[in-house]
Amino acid sequence: MRTTRSSLLLGCVLLCSASLLYLGMSGVECPPKSHRHRWMELNLGSAGQNLSLAEHFPEDTPLIFIGGFPRSGTTLMRVMLDAHNAVRCGEETRVIPRLLAMRATWSRSVKERIRLDEAGVTDQVLDSAVRAFLLEVIVGHGEPAPRLCNKDPFALKSLSYLSHIFPKAKFVLMLRDGRAAVHSMISRKVTISGFDLTSYRDCLTKWSSAVETMFNQCRAAGEDRCLPVRYEQLVLRPEQEMRKLLHFLELQWDPSVLHHEELIGKAGGVSLSKVERSTDQVMKPVNTEALSKWVGYIPSDVMSDMAEIAPMLSRLGYDPRANPPDYTRPEPVMSLFNFSRVRPTH
Ligand code: A3P
Repeated sequence: MRTTRSSLLLGCVLLCSASLLYLGMSGVECPPKSHRHRWMELNLGSAGQNLSLAEHFPEDTPLIFIGGFPRSGTTLMRVMLDAHNAVRCGEETRVIPRLLAMRATWSRSVKERIRLDEAGVTDQVLDSAVRAFLLEVIVGHGEPAPRLCNKDPFALKSLSYLSHIFPKAKFVLMLRDGRAAVHSMISRKVTISGFDLTSYRDCLTKWSSAVETMFNQCRAAGEDRCLPVRYEQLVLRPEQEMRKLLHFLELQWDPSVLHHEELIGKAGGVSLSKVERSTDQVMKPVNTEALSKWVGYIPSDVMSDMAEIAPMLSRLGYDPRANPPDYTRPEPVMSLFNFSRVRPTH
């Protein structure tokens, strides 16, 4: 009886071993490693893989945030940076600006703030939760790289908050002549909540106010933290602008940034979304085709009120009466922050 049982047990063990061997040899694959897991392997080795992301990736991570008003060359800027061998930006995450907007509402109402504090949900608790969310999304949605970057145009409406929760982050604010950005938005039917796409007047007014919000925060962050880049200068003098930008980001010069189109779809290169609005345009090399496309489309009554409708035009150095301005006349980037040197409106 005992011999029969031992033989049965031995039989089972042999059968299991054979099955395992077969499965192993027939190529049963492990699930693919996540981007986050690969980032940890590359940056931290195998030692720290059981620790949380926040423990590895603390608040002093030198993230790069690119933003600005949509249609201002934000995608072009991020693909040029994606072409740099040390940087990965990737596609828009879409959820980051939404979370930041929601976070802003939590502290806005005094009553709500008191309720949250009473519940122990202090600003500190919320900030570390938001930081962890952003890091998970930024690390997890693309390839690992030594410097990670995020491009969601309206995230920079929360530039001051981002600079508070990531004190070593740097910001790149894309600026463009508002007439061109608004014309692009209207002609390509790019909807932005609250903007009336049937009215240049409405869109230009709201362009001015959205850009003002971001520009003021960029200025307050200071020149070490935030660099405004004009789209027109980027396409007219790409090497000069990219050298300035890489110096600001404390990155080595890499000539690949001038030929992002050659790295599209390549490992460590530029990843594009099939559904983002600017994908068709950023597949091309840097070009100046879009500079003055808006000329002739804006109604004359809006053109004559331009300085009042969009005061940010002259504040950013774009002549509101020129049709179009001479974009080849470069204005030093830092003079943007020096209001006394900005051309008068009248
Ligand atoms: P137009 O719609 O006027 O053509 P964003 O990515 O911030 O939405 O900006 C879109 C604008 O960037 C588009 O403006 C587009 O032409 C411009 N752009 C994208 N790729 C470009 C390239 N390779 N060279 C020059 N401009 C480019």
